[in-house]
Amino acid sequence: MTDFEPLGVELMDRDHPAIEARLQALASLSEIDPASAFDEIEGAISKHFADEEALMRTARVPIYPIHKQLHDQILAEFSQMRARLDLGQIAVVAAFLREQVPQAIAEHVAGPDTVTAGFLRAPGS
Ligand SMILES: [Fe+2]
Repeated sequence: MTDFEPLGVELMDRDHPAIEARLQALASLSEIDPASAFDEIEGAISKHFADEEALMRTARVPIYPIHKQLHDQILAEFSQMRARLDLGQIAVVAAFLREQVPQAIAEHVAGPDTVTAGFLRAPGS
């Protein structure tokens, strides 16, 4: 995973490195407790998404609907994984947290977050 470039938006530049650090810490452990790791990561990401959405609504960012939809897709994947966690599919959930989530977040930051940051930095926003 590459380090996130600052996007010039306080909320993003505070939360993105913090979430990345959590994910990197998880990936570096030889064994993880997927249940507690899952709650922690899902909680951090869903809180960040909600804060980012509030910021976008306040600033009337035009790509808000598509950006919100992309957040909802990631959260839907967490819901599906919670069901698998409840079924005891620990290895699947561990791989999700260690590999799929860091990839999805890196792509999200490079894509919709970067575009949104451009709107948020624009004069008058
Ligand atoms: Fe986002």
